[in-house]
Amino acid sequence: MPFKSTLANQAINFDIEQNETVLDAALRQNISLPYGCRNGACGACKAELVEGQVVYPKELPPALNQEEHEQGKALLCQALPTSDITIKARTVDSAGDLKLRKLPCRVTTCEKLNDDVIRLFLELPKTERLQFLAGQYIDIIMRGGKRRSFSMANPPHKDQQIELHIRHYNGGLFSEYAFNELQERALLRIEGPLGQFTLHESDRPILMIAGGTGFAPIKSLIEHCLEIGETRQIDLYWGARSETDLYLNDMANRWAEENTNINYIPVLSELDKLNGWQGKKGFVHEAVMEDYSDLSGHDVYACGPPPMINAIVESLPKHGLDREHLFSDSFEFAAN
Ligand code: FES
Repeated sequence: MPFKSTLANQAINFDIEQNETVLDAALRQNISLPYGCRNGACGACKAELVEGQVVYPKELPPALNQEEHEQGKALLCQALPTSDITIKARTVDSAGDLKLRKLPCRVTTCEKLNDDVIRLFLELPKTERLQFLAGQYIDIIMRGGKRRSFSMANPPHKDQQIELHIRHYNGGLFSEYAFNELQERALLRIEGPLGQFTLHESDRPILMIAGGTGFAPIKSLIEHCLEIGETRQIDLYWGARSETDLYLNDMANRWAEENTNINYIPVLSELDKLNGWQGKKGFVHEAVMEDYSDLSGHDVYACGPPPMINAIVESLPKHGLDREHLFSDSFEFAAN
């Protein structure tokens, strides 16, 4: 039988399985409690244990001293309940509740997904994790202090490594470096989490629209929805020039095959290169307009280059979309 945990200050309840930490249980059930390292070192998850008992796998973790323990403080990333518990802790309800941090990280994988896109996996120091909300981004801080922003493609529950999708732009300061010089094991400096492009609570069906590497935060959002058992209908449109630009097409197809509430519609725009393509053709916002005459009941999440976002902002409200239910992230290209 799982133990019950109650957040005293918010009347929120969640279950904790045997040998599951309070923090892991909360995050698994989409209750976002604050954390920093998830290994007992930083103290960011410290909370007040109002009722019940917890134990720690070995001795007290470094960020909790004996006195605090006796006063009823608990480190939720390490604490294992031995009874039902009541805790007093704040929750992370919006991007503004998260602490902005500058961290070093190491490139563990640099993988070419097609001629124009590489995927990087970044590992933080062992004592650190970056807490973020699905859809947010980080800045990479380059030598001389210049910054380039990239959305995280991993969902928040997979925070062991940060996943970025980098598109090649001629003259792009970071993209040229990433394509031509960056080696695995390289050290980078990042700041994050940043951005307000996050999932909003609602009971409306969701329309997700990605353009090119705007797929990255959409992937994070969808994988987050799968993790929390989101039951709303999710229709994903991914616009690209040609088939090879749909660089994780198999993954998107798999989401749709394995989840009855997910539909995936790829849309290609370079009409002279579409040999034998049976799917939708044209610009992605046009495909959406063709398929939906009334968007008044939807939430729309869109991420892509400025022309795509501008076209969506301009056109979808004509099909009934309430602007308050349009959440978008437009990525600008910045050359050297
Ligand atoms: S001590 Fe760092 S998250 Fe728990």
